[in-house]
Amino acid sequence: MGKRRKLRKQLRKRELENETVLAICVGKRCCPREESCALAEATRAYAAEMHSRVRVVTVGCLDICKKGPIAATYPEIKLKKRVTAKRARKLLDKLERRRARRVARDL
Ligand code: FES
Repeated sequence: MGKRRKLRKQLRKRELENETVLAICVGKRCCPREESCALAEATRAYAAEMHSRVRVVTVGCLDICKKGPIAATYPEIKLKKRVTAKRARKLLDKLERRRARRVARDL
């Protein structure tokens, strides 16, 4: 199964397919789990601080499995390797701007 399809499937299972999401892989193979969980926690804290409507979720393996931590954006799926807390914050800000633009356009 392709990486994007796998991500879509995991988000659909959690009924997040209509949300703007930053997904962080917490699988064991791309990096130590403590590292990816810490990244997810730090990113969630930042999202809460910024009152962001982007959902930060943890997901299982996305079939990249190297150069982790791995993060993925949704609905426009972009897969990012070696994501640091700083990069995750930037991704979140970008997703938030896109989400706001999409909402404004749909009004
Ligand atoms: S374990 Fe993270 S992509 Fe496979």
